Amino acid sequence: MTVLVTGSAGLIGSEAVLFFESLGCKVHGVDNNARQVFFGVDGDTSWNLERLHRETKNFENHTVDIRNSTKIEDLIRRLKPDHVIHCAAQPAHDYARQHPDVDFSVNVEGTINLLEACRKHAPVANFIFCSSSKVYGSVNSLPFKELATRYELDDDCRLPGVSSQGINEDFPISGGDGRGIYGSGKAAADLLVQEYGRTYGMRTVCLRGNCMTGPAHSPAELHGFLAYLALCLREGRTYNILGFKGKQVRDIIHSSDFVKAVSMICMSPPEPGTVYNLGGGRKNSVSIREASDLLENITGKQLQTTYQDEPRHGDHRIYITDTTRFRKDYPGWEIGWSIEEICQDLVNVRSRFPWR
Ligand SMILES: NC(=O)c1ccc[n+]([C@@H]2O[C@H](COP(=O)([O-])OP(=O)(O)OC[C@H]3O[C@@H](n4cnc5c(N)ncnc54)[C@H](O)[C@@H]3O)[C@@H](O)[C@H]2O)c1
Repeated sequence: MTVLVTGSAGLIGSEAVLFFESLGCKVHGVDNNARQVFFGVDGDTSWNLERLHRETKNFENHTVDIRNSTKIEDLIRRLKPDHVIHCAAQPAHDYARQHPDVDFSVNVEGTINLLEACRKHAPVANFIFCSSSKVYGSVNSLPFKELATRYELDDDCRLPGVSSQGINEDFPISGGDGRGIYGSGKAAADLLVQEYGRTYGMRTVCLRGNCMTGPAHSPAELHGFLAYLALCLREGRTYNILGFKGKQVRDIIHSSDFVKAVSMICMSPPEPGTVYNLGGGRKNSVSIREASDLLENITGKQLQTTYQDEPRHGDHRIYITDTTRFRKDYPGWEIGWSIEEICQDLVNVRSRFPWR
């Protein structure tokens, strides 16, 4: 089996590389360390790529930009992968707002370059796209209530796409002011991935993640909030809370639980163009305030914070993933990492990766 992982030095990509390589697959990565270009030194993923080379025997990375359609086509023509796990992206709202052209070229053009190359040279490959909950633009218009440490959806909020578990795939992606440039690019790529499944019968799947994390992230202020909180505590940095009184809620999934789901899709692909919301779910949901309390309790340190009233553009007030559709199609999948275990793992990052 040949697996191609884009964004191979990033959080999800590196987890996928290690997982598939451990199964005996030949794994090829595509990563040009663009995360460092987006986020500066904090975003540098070269340490993680070096780790992958150290820990694997059957992995080769290609320093190719997914925007380069010629090189991407050459690579896919040559490799003819059985599975393509597409994780490379510009992943941050604020960066997208400042650089909409870069965001579009990476997230939309990069995705169609991969889809086209696969359509021509690997048409039966499973193509798994890491989409985003940010495609759902009108989440902030849902009725909500304010609790002591977090916001919560109103109990009687029974709109299409909303259940007691959270947001499901029937939630509309049109309308609202909570998508921003990043979410709009992800939505465009998501629709293309679905359409390549429907139009060409390619085995495409969109996984709409919410907040993925793990010790292999290279957290930066603009992306990777929980790992960045842990980094701020570790290094005595100040964390800037942007709006919503720090009560904005996300559900957190560990990268290994995410990749477990990816592997199940590869083993038993659903209908072409299927969309799943994939996240940690209600049990793993936390607000920024609750997350900092958890991390402070583990480390015994106090987080230094500043607060600005203005929320980040496109930030959801509350988003919790309803994973019912995925769990119905893949009943063997379950969340292995609780929010407490995830926080502990992020705090332990130095003992896991002492050379960082
Ligand atoms: N982490 C999250 O909380 C989260 C939430 C929802 C969706 N997602 C999506 O999941 C995917 C993976 O997220 P992640 O957290 O692993 O991101 P990441 O930034 O850790 O990894 C992405 C990798 O892609 C590489 N890359 C970026 N642009 C590239 C380009 N043009 N050519 C080649 N390589 C390039 C980067 O250098 C980086 O190593 C992304 O598509 C992201 O939008 C992430």
